[in-house]
Amino acid sequence: MPNWGQGYCTEAAKEILRYGFEVLGLHRIHSGHFSRNPASGKVMQKIGMVYEDCRRQHRLKLGEYVDIVDYGILKSDWQKII
Ligand SMILES: CC(C)(COP(=O)(O)OP(=O)(O)OC[C@H]1O[C@@H](n2cnc3c(N)ncnc32)[C@H](O)[C@@H]1OP(=O)(O)O)[C@@H](O)C(=O)NCCC(=O)NCCS
Repeated sequence: MPNWGQGYCTEAAKEILRYGFEVLGLHRIHSGHFSRNPASGKVMQKIGMVYEDCRRQHRLKLGEYVDIVDYGILKSDWQKII
């Protein structure tokens, strides 16, 4: 797709973290992606989230059980990288 790989998702995800920590006052934000979508995990890594777990066969998607890879970030981690 022409718009993939140009940093748009990373830019949007950074803003989600900023909104969550600065506006909503959250302590921690977590997110997960299907293991078959590694680009989503790459985006999470690029915004400073760290790998926390893989929930094996956690979701039933179109008749198939799929793994969910979890990432998280604390407000204190985020404050060090902005
Ligand atoms: C995941 C997705 C939403 C990210 O959007 P985007 O605007 O392309 O994201 P960005 O450009 O900000 O960053 C994507 C990063 O993933 C990397 N990437 C792409 N394909 C990858 C793959 N198969 N494995 C690992 N990393 C990958 C890119 O190289 C880029 O990292 P870089 O900047 O260090 O080179 C988009 O790439 C997409 O929809 N991909 C197709 C399928 C998919 O995974 N969808 C998720 C639905 S849950």
